[in-house]
Amino acid sequence: MLTGIIETKTSESQQTLSVEPPTSGLSLHGTIEIPGDKSISHRALMLGALATGTTTIEGLLLGADPRSTASCFSQMGAKISELNQQRVEVQGIGLGQLLEPTEVLDAGNSGTTLRLMLGILASHPDRFFTVTGDHSLVRRPMDRVVKPLQEMGAMIWGREGGSFAPLAIQGQRLKPIHYNSPIASAQVKSCVLLAGLMAEGETTVTEPALSRDHSERMLRAFGARVLVDPETHSATVIGPATLQGQPVVVPGDVSSAAFWLVAGAIIPGSELLIKNVGVNPTRTGILDALEMMEADIQLENQREVAGEPVADLRVKYSQLKACTLEGSLIPRLIDEIPILAVAATSAQGTTIIRDAEELRVKESDRIKVMAAELNRMGAKISELPDGMEIVGGTALTGAEVDSYTDHRIAMSLAIAALKASGKTLIGRAEAASISYPQFTTTLQQICK
Ligand code: S3P
Repeated sequence: MLTGIIETKTSESQQTLSVEPPTSGLSLHGTIEIPGDKSISHRALMLGALATGTTTIEGLLLGADPRSTASCFSQMGAKISELNQQRVEVQGIGLGQLLEPTEVLDAGNSGTTLRLMLGILASHPDRFFTVTGDHSLVRRPMDRVVKPLQEMGAMIWGREGGSFAPLAIQGQRLKPIHYNSPIASAQVKSCVLLAGLMAEGETTVTEPALSRDHSERMLRAFGARVLVDPETHSATVIGPATLQGQPVVVPGDVSSAAFWLVAGAIIPGSELLIKNVGVNPTRTGILDALEMMEADIQLENQREVAGEPVADLRVKYSQLKACTLEGSLIPRLIDEIPILAVAATSAQGTTIIRDAEELRVKESDRIKVMAAELNRMGAKISELPDGMEIVGGTALTGAEVDSYTDHRIAMSLAIAALKASGKTLIGRAEAASISYPQFTTTLQQICK
């Protein structure tokens, strides 16, 4: 594929993305429709599968991660129509009615699929399940969900005492608990709440800071009794619940919009309009961070769609300033830190990111990988145990870099390459299709 600036070369299912801005400079223009929110897509498929009746999903993300969720729940008896963005229909099997699969359930690259599904499987009495994932997922910690599930009475086995997939689960009737989670993680919270759906009484999760609340919103919409206490960062589900199929409209993913927000903010002369972006306050840390950095971003046409706030975002270039990202802001922008690191290389001053040790157990060690790959391009980034120190205002130069098969690393490096002089080659760039299959197409469109 060839447009002069963006080229792709595929060999043996691995793609190298080549980005070479013209020496005369580049500015980005256009209107962008981003794909559906990954977190909401997973939950719509899962709750649709567990509910009675029909769930229709508009705007589903067609990336590899939600496809893993759809395939696992199809194996357990949910009837899911062909996946497309217009309208997917899920015929639910009813809470507690999942069929015991005869094959291993494969969550692929998706931590959300595996961790949320564990809560569902562990609470299905009299069935046995085995679950696994790809080379990255089998290295990611599962004890964070296995431990609270075991407190509820779950029976789960795996490597290192159930810390790593592959895992085997003997479903049980679980008892409700109040779990004080040591980490602010929506995957942990959602796993425990989903496990609590069939437990009799109140299952509560309290977190050190508020994580994304899509599960709470959607469980309520499907008819479960859910209480939230924003003061103590607690969410409670009262079981046993019944779930009724619903129409779901999935907004665009703010985590995908983040790449264009930063691209528009750091490339001189740019202006981009990103349509239909979910702006749930538990997800908009990226907007707060870019505001601190004095980016020029406007929220237009703000509205509510199927229980989630949505807006169009307009970004124009401006000189960014360094900032410090820490504390309760971190869970609200955890997936956007790789692209914020790119923004920080263009900012005046030194940006500090701390309290983000969770990045080390994402699809890759995102602290190590972003520091190493951006430094190859001339950035000045030092790793901190729980974050990064980024000296801004460094000129980036094209280099050979690698995604480490992490989707957000692949896309962040592509945006960094737009700002670099010379050619950047991003290895294993196909990883982007985990959450953003049309990323390269859109990149080509706005670079014209
Ligand atoms: C997600 C929660 C976050 C996030 C992930 C999606 C979710 O993970 O990083 O991409 O959909 O619940 P943690 O719960 O591990 O923070």
